[in-house]
Amino acid sequence: MPHHRTETIGGVAEPVIRIDHNGPLTGEIRVPGAKNSVLKLMAATVLADGEFLLSNVPAIVDVEIMSQLLRSLGSIVEPVDSDSLLIRHEGDMSTEVPSELAGQLRASINLLGPLVARFGRIQIALPGGDDFGLRPIDMHISGLEAMGATCHFAGGVLTVHASRLKGANIRFSFPSVGATENLVMAAIFADGETTIDGAAREPEVVDLCRFLVAMGAHIEGIGESTLRITGVPRGALNSASHRVVPDRIQAATYVASVAVAGGEIDMIDAQRGDMEMFLRRCTEMGLEFTELVGTGLRVASSGRLTAVDVQTLPYPGVATDYKPLVIAMLSVANGSAVVTENLYPGRFKYVDELIALGANITMHEHHAEITGLPRLSGTEVTAHDIRAGAALVVAGLAADGVTTISGVGHIDRGYDDLVGRLRGIGAGIRRD
Ligand code: UD1
Repeated sequence: MPHHRTETIGGVAEPVIRIDHNGPLTGEIRVPGAKNSVLKLMAATVLADGEFLLSNVPAIVDVEIMSQLLRSLGSIVEPVDSDSLLIRHEGDMSTEVPSELAGQLRASINLLGPLVARFGRIQIALPGGDDFGLRPIDMHISGLEAMGATCHFAGGVLTVHASRLKGANIRFSFPSVGATENLVMAAIFADGETTIDGAAREPEVVDLCRFLVAMGAHIEGIGESTLRITGVPRGALNSASHRVVPDRIQAATYVASVAVAGGEIDMIDAQRGDMEMFLRRCTEMGLEFTELVGTGLRVASSGRLTAVDVQTLPYPGVATDYKPLVIAMLSVANGSAVVTENLYPGRFKYVDELIALGANITMHEHHAEITGLPRLSGTEVTAHDIRAGAALVVAGLAADGVTTISGVGHIDRGYDDLVGRLRGIGAGIRRD
């Protein structure tokens, strides 16, 4: 047995994840709510006064950071039970977002649209989040400027003013998720109609739009690439309750786990329709899926995977967030395949960690060529972002020997009890 490894930083033990035997996986897991939806829903609540009940909220660190952000602006945020949050606002709020919190969370930028829409101003430091290369916000800014806002950037802090935004015709050259969400929220109280052409259509964008409609917003074209928002008076929006859409990326992590470790599991709440292209590629690789009508999706492995080329694209294409999982799967598939990243060219940092586990991967700019081996081989690796961390867990399930993963804090930002859920379906995984 390799040595027990708990890193000590500043006297505080840093957790590690250890994976030491695996497969076949069997049983049932419930897919939690989506990180990339709940954070936006929380930001959207600042658009109106009253009490908002969000359910199916994942127990993840990013939700805690967003809760602190909202509290710092004057909101009351209280857990109701293990997966519900009650958020309450009354009247005026601060529009100065504390830099130390904004810097920890990419989704802090989602406060831009709602705060400017409701209070006519915001001061916010550049957002943090996963480091997978340059993540500009020029589309957010130019959209707000088209709606009449004045934007000023100095010393890493963005300041936006607008007494009342006015409707505009905005045309995106790329369907940015964050810019679509911000500009939809900015347009809610704008004077007249706003159209967004080339809007993002991700299930989490749809979830946000449905929540906004439940609050009283006028949005047409939800889920399509042209959104039309007709401004309503500020007082016309009310509070609302909402169930967060299940997380397609967490669901995909369990699919990838079964793909490399074998077995058959039922994923309660998994939404087949939200992950169609990913499931299609997985089917080509040899996995079998059965819809559990009204309850979720069954995934079954029928032996070693077959290598299949994959490229990332905006929704409905295969999401960039699935890619580390796909590369981990291909590391033990039969044959060679190329995975192409079309959204974040720098998003391959975890490849070196997979190579440390024995994977045969060669990089050619934004293409990764993977030649599958029967098994990987356990060693010590580090997670550098959320999805990379999940991919290392999957790779650990595909490895002989012991895999030890540090940088677990990244995984905690976006995964609700990944270790417990995998243990529950028979994986030899624990957190030390
Ligand atoms: C969201 C997700 C992230 C996911 C990504 C793409 C959250 C919190 N994060 O990130 O997990 O990987 O969607 O599905 O929901 N871009 C610009 N200018 C802009 C905005 C974006 O050039 O103003 C570029 C980005 O640098 C990137 C691409 O567009 O190359 C995608 O960004 P975007 O869709 O905005 O992703 P996020 O909302 O940041």
